[in-house]
Amino acid sequence: MAEIAIAFDVATLEQAIELDQRLGEGPELAKIGLELFTAAGPDAVRALNERGRRVFLDLKLHDIPHTVHGAAAAAARLGADLLAAVEGVRHAEGRTRIVAVTLLTSLDAYNLPPGFQSPLHPGVVVAQQLAMAERAGAAGIVCSGSDLAGVRMMRRGKPFFAVTPGIRPAGMGRGDQERVTTVAEAVEQGSSVLVLGRAVTSALDPREALEAARHECAEATAARQA
Ligand code: C5P
Repeated sequence: MAEIAIAFDVATLEQAIELDQRLGEGPELAKIGLELFTAAGPDAVRALNERGRRVFLDLKLHDIPHTVHGAAAAAARLGADLLAAVEGVRHAEGRTRIVAVTLLTSLDAYNLPPGFQSPLHPGVVVAQQLAMAERAGAAGIVCSGSDLAGVRMMRRGKPFFAVTPGIRPAGMGRGDQERVTTVAEAVEQGSSVLVLGRAVTSALDPREALEAARHECAEATAARQA
């Protein structure tokens, strides 16, 4: 079954711990991104690890290969389970799996940066990036769930590992995201890890919102296997 990662996009370590408490038994994975890591640094990873969470360190590392490799090694020593990088990293040591960031979910076909614009469907571009990422030794990619139909078509049944942010329950606004999917859609399209941010963390009752997402995830997985 696909896993759920909650984006701990908060400003302080205290707020991260408070959110973790509100989530109760909570998510399989805690995603630490630029905001929390810039504010609290490695302590945020240690604190969430100590609270029993596996950590997805979403720093979107992007620099020359030597520098990215050094940062990836440091993240592995710190205890990150998953690490997001843009390019220039091969394997991190130990159990840390690298995922390569593809087209951001906040971009749509019309506002892609130069160099990423393509007459091809985003899913086809992402499938090419997945092949490159795997050749470089990455475990998989980060992409929109809406890219996975194209990825699956290009892969012709070969399994892959994909982390999908931009998940919104039906009826919730997109916010600053463009290419969003629901939990069920992401699972149906073959997502391995669903990243849920504001859909859970801004809910009146985050624990209830997470439970609802888990339920939707389990039902969609069962329907997929049937
Ligand atoms: O609140 P929301 O669900 O939009 O949060 C999405 C999370 O996933 C954010 O932490 C964002 O940094 C991250 N992310 C993304 N798109 C990507 C990669 C990561 O939205 N392509």
